[in-house]
Amino acid sequence: MLDKKMTLGQLRAKKGVEKITAITAYDALMAHIFDGEVDILLVGDSLNMSFGGNNDTLNLTTEEMIYHTKAVCRAVKHSFLIADMPFGSYITTKEALKNARKFYKHTRADAIKLEVGIEKYALIKALCDEGFAVMAHIGLKPQFMRFDGGFKIKGKQEAQCNELIECALAMQEAGAFGILIEGVTKQTGHAITQAIKIPTIGIGAGVDCDGQILVWSDAFGFFDTFQPKFVRRYCDGKSMLKEAIRAYAKDVKSCAFPSDRESY
Ligand code: KIV
Repeated sequence: MLDKKMTLGQLRAKKGVEKITAITAYDALMAHIFDGEVDILLVGDSLNMSFGGNNDTLNLTTEEMIYHTKAVCRAVKHSFLIADMPFGSYITTKEALKNARKFYKHTRADAIKLEVGIEKYALIKALCDEGFAVMAHIGLKPQFMRFDGGFKIKGKQEAQCNELIECALAMQEAGAFGILIEGVTKQTGHAITQAIKIPTIGIGAGVDCDGQILVWSDAFGFFDTFQPKFVRRYCDGKSMLKEAIRAYAKDVKSCAFPSDRESY
């Protein structure tokens, strides 16, 4: 359990020393439970799927992300807090700066995350030069799922692995403080992590990344529409809640709830 606020400097210093722990949070209730138990909390745009009930992350707006980020911020005192910039909010450098500013003006997020390729070098540099702490998300990029025709694992071929290493190096050069690597082979996750000086956080990217992140509703068994290979379930949240809601409904039907003790 963290007893103080996690800083960017402390996160950077963990590379090669201690694994970084991270999980998503989308609301104050969960953020309150997770805060301080992991180094990083990410208000991920994956909320558009697990919580919004959509098939992808693409129709999420900046305003919706800010709403969720504000809620998480209210509960977080210890973990380092990163907010995802949604699809379409950073097409040009000008729009990226404008929308990133909204995150910093309206929330207390410590950093922002953008899904990028090497072509976004100048955009990421402009954000960093302006004082934004940026995490670059590479590999499988869910915001590209319609372009890619689904969620496709990357880095299987040597050329693709080399491209990803080049991209990570460019993002480091641009000023990103960390790289989130999603959906690549274990070898590619290892190669990227070895090639750069800033920390890598992996999701479906093998054990050699500097840290790991999971989407909380996957990790705790609340989202079971599909289960990617990289997810480990730490509890069966859906069954637990199903049992609880059925017990509650049964008690109401049978007048077992509320009891006199629960009445005024
Ligand atoms: O939106 C999200 O939850 C993510 C995951 C890859 C961690 O970016």
